[in-house]
Amino acid sequence: MSVQNLDGRPVIIGGGIAGLMTALHLAPQPVLLLSRAPLGADASSAWAQGGLAASLGDDDDPALHLADTLAAGDGLCDREMASRILNAAPGAIDRLAGFGVRFDRAPDGTFRLGLEAAHSRRRIVHAGGDGSGREVMRALVAAVRSTRTIEVVEGFEARRLAVEDGSIAGVLATCSTGPVFFATGRVVLATGGIGGLFLDSTNPLGSCGQGLALAARAGATLADLEFVQFHPTALDGSGRPMTLISEAVRGEGATIVDGSGRRLLQGVQGAELAPRDVLARAVWNHLASGHRVFLDVRERPGPAFARQFPTIASACDKAGIDPARDLIPIRPAQHYHMGGVAVDGSGRTSVLGLWACGEVAATGLHGANRLASNSLTEAVVCARWVAESIAGNAALRTRQANASDCPPSDPEAVRPLLSRALGVVRDGEGLKAAARSLLPLAERQGADPAAVGLMIAIAALLRRESRGAHYRTDFPHHAAVGRRSEITLEAALAAA
Ligand code: SIN
Repeated sequence: MSVQNLDGRPVIIGGGIAGLMTALHLAPQPVLLLSRAPLGADASSAWAQGGLAASLGDDDDPALHLADTLAAGDGLCDREMASRILNAAPGAIDRLAGFGVRFDRAPDGTFRLGLEAAHSRRRIVHAGGDGSGREVMRALVAAVRSTRTIEVVEGFEARRLAVEDGSIAGVLATCSTGPVFFATGRVVLATGGIGGLFLDSTNPLGSCGQGLALAARAGATLADLEFVQFHPTALDGSGRPMTLISEAVRGEGATIVDGSGRRLLQGVQGAELAPRDVLARAVWNHLASGHRVFLDVRERPGPAFARQFPTIASACDKAGIDPARDLIPIRPAQHYHMGGVAVDGSGRTSVLGLWACGEVAATGLHGANRLASNSLTEAVVCARWVAESIAGNAALRTRQANASDCPPSDPEAVRPLLSRALGVVRDGEGLKAAARSLLPLAERQGADPAAVGLMIAIAALLRRESRGAHYRTDFPHHAAVGRRSEITLEAALAAA
């Protein structure tokens, strides 16, 4: 195993928006950025269609954005953290523009603000219509590549964090030539989400909760893991990962209908723009009763659809669907994880020397159900605070780790288990069965997807209520007081 001493440089694991922004904010402090694939190639950030939510309109302010976020979060948001992040959101958009992101603007230069579900105002900033993530990544990758103090190391997968006396001592990674140990006392996890652990997801297949596994095996506390968000409108076809049909399409008037064209959500408050968990359950229940569900864009957005949503229009075309004429078949798909590594306001985890940023982190902003387009905003805002906190912490000691710590991890066996037990609708028996099957897999050395799955299943089993994205048929009611949850790998193994 080769060992690289980084001379006190921090390591960022992950090349999505959270990782790139943290690296850019650290400059001119030197930093090493580890990415599994060439930058931009497998980050879920690049797939984001919806953009970034920020209160930029004349009729808007951060207090309204906060109220919508808290309502969608169903009693579980950290109000103070949410307020801090949403107040900083407009400034984050300016910073991205400063890095060269070409946002969609009106002829007078003001942002074209979109509407998405459960937002009371138009406040979604897009780029390239439905290609926001791609454009943000384009600009940030270019900025990172031209920043001399950021060393990008591609083709490396982090497998273990070395911890000595409760403090980070390095990152054990693998690449095509074998294991490499990066000796450092400061590590940022920016590894994204868990969609690759589900059969039906809109995330890249490689998003398998690696950051959660790294943090958990290092002894960190994780929070709110049971809250997995399902997007109600993924294109119901054979392709995997599934194609997302952005909420912005419903924001422009598209309706959700059954096979006979009847609107499904007429009795539901907010109808097509109700919170995501409500819509996902409504669509799921209709499918479960043996019917199909569709998105109807023929009248609204109508002829503007292909121009406003070129990525989705092209996916429909590939699937042989003409949205001007045909209904678009949809079904819910795993889309985002509200839970993650528990962090404080500076992105610090419970392990000294370890920070987390972006989807892998649980800041408390999203509560039990994330408000659309708050996630990229959170990543950009929090990356700055993480960078400031790292800069203020001196490098810690290092040690050498054992190469046998890093056998490859395969999510194949975990996907059907999680999809069955931890879907839109759950129950205790299904969760127990999943935990029983996951336990022997998780106990195997290196079985990271199973360990992550087990922690999620146990967290879901322990939450004996329904709230936000966590719906249990055996506990359909809301507890009077919402409490965030915490778990460690040790506790999950003991509880299973
Ligand atoms: C969407 O465009 O519907 C997704 C936006 C998001 O997940 O925040």
